[in-house]
Amino acid sequence: MVTKCTYFNGLIGALKKKDNSQAITPNKVVLNPLVQQVAILNELEEMTLKEELYIFEQQCQVTLLRIPISTKQQKQIEEIVSQFASLSYEVLDNQILITKGNISQEAEVFVNVPQLATQGHDAFISYLRQDRMDSSGGQRSDMLWDVAETQNNNEDAFDAVNEGEGGVYAVSSLSGKKVAMFKPAEEEVFVREGLKAGEGAVREEAAYVIDSANGSFSGVPPTAVAQLYMTNSKSIKPSSKSTASHFKLGAVQRFMNSRMGSLDDFGMPHSTEKASQFVSVDQVHRVGILDIRLFNTDRHPGNILLLGDSPPYSLVPIDHGCILPSWDHLSEARLDWLSYPQAHVPFSTQTIEYINHLNPTEDARRLRRLGIREECITTLRICTMVLQEATKAGKTLHWIGSLLQREGCFEVPSALENLICQACDACNMPYSLRKCDTGEIKFLVEQGILSRRPPDVFHDCLKRVLINYLNSST
Ligand SMILES: Nc1ncnc2c1ncn2[C@@H]1O[C@H](COP(=O)(O)OP(=O)(O)O)[C@@H](O)[C@H]1O
Ligand SMILES: [Mg+2]
Repeated sequence: MVTKCTYFNGLIGALKKKDNSQAITPNKVVLNPLVQQVAILNELEEMTLKEELYIFEQQCQVTLLRIPISTKQQKQIEEIVSQFASLSYEVLDNQILITKGNISQEAEVFVNVPQLATQGHDAFISYLRQDRMDSSGGQRSDMLWDVAETQNNNEDAFDAVNEGEGGVYAVSSLSGKKVAMFKPAEEEVFVREGLKAGEGAVREEAAYVIDSANGSFSGVPPTAVAQLYMTNSKSIKPSSKSTASHFKLGAVQRFMNSRMGSLDDFGMPHSTEKASQFVSVDQVHRVGILDIRLFNTDRHPGNILLLGDSPPYSLVPIDHGCILPSWDHLSEARLDWLSYPQAHVPFSTQTIEYINHLNPTEDARRLRRLGIREECITTLRICTMVLQEATKAGKTLHWIGSLLQREGCFEVPSALENLICQACDACNMPYSLRKCDTGEIKFLVEQGILSRRPPDVFHDCLKRVLINYLNSST
């Protein structure tokens, strides 16, 4: 009996048996109306198909995928499917049925540090090199090895940092040197629209992956989702004797030695001249651009470390657990650098070049690989478009940030939210605006398949309304 159906984006449908064990045999495939619709859709774009296969292979619990095809497409689709090593397919009548081997989801999703540590340094590093950790020139594997070395017989390795609300621990080597910070996922406590507590760890890694893939422009410290062994976390009940509860999954980040601490302890001078003697314009722009791309809902001065012994200081952005809410919850941007005078200075030529070269399609793939939800990847796509178009129109960081962040008491939709409503109107995507008891107006869109990842026509409409808005604003 078929008990579960999952459909992606209206393009592809998949079905699974109740015991999760095997795919349904092809002749028992129950077609879903959406898939039938797709049968009429003759144009499956190559890129879209690749993305869908990527989700199927990497993230999805289902094990069988059915793509309706016309003979004209068959060769092309077969060719694309065969590029995925873990997928096999058979052609049956006018459809391709794709199945996947038993991919170990866990191995892909986090680094099991205590287990890997037993293999010694070289095996540890070479394993990570084969894994997705390879992407950043060994910085992350080195950081994780430093942490691995603390995993045996080092009761004092984890020290709770009290400043934050959630569980944050400094990880120290035997010699007492701080090597990393660890934030267990189960100790996350934030409340944000469009974000779930427990998803912070992967977002911490996502911020690093997105930044480092683009030349570490914003300087996010090396970060990875990993499992660590610790005996003194807040979430272990004193009565618990089970060692299983000592294995914690969370975000590990390279400890950045900041003598000055965070920006929280300093006021930013009001004049541009004095402010940029304290922190350069460029440094503020680097953090700001990261926050725009990732729609940060938590950029306050406590989440920016100051590096260096004397001014001008460099900035290190930290705490990225609350980035990338789903695209239908863009009401909570918090970008405290909006009050810094550096944000009003136009972008430099190099910064403009960096912005122009950002590739949201590539970045979307990177996020997908990490398991970020599709509706949150849409946020990155929207924000990159906004950043690139506004930069083309000569806007400043301050202008762009003000488009994203709600004004005053955060009750009334931001300019970006208004543009999203206009885009929904233009492509007939139903939504509503509702006033809550708190006075806050919320944008609501039905959580259907299309709203999870809005169709390309939505993005076209949004671009159009944004360009109109850019042209009409001074
Ligand atoms: N990579 C890091 N290097 C140095 N200190 C850090 C790092 N990450 C966090 N911290 C310190 O830990 C504190 C809490 O971390 P943060 O990530 O902001 O957690 P929370 O979500 O609890 O605010 C920070 O204010 C900072 O002092
Ligand atoms: Mg913080």
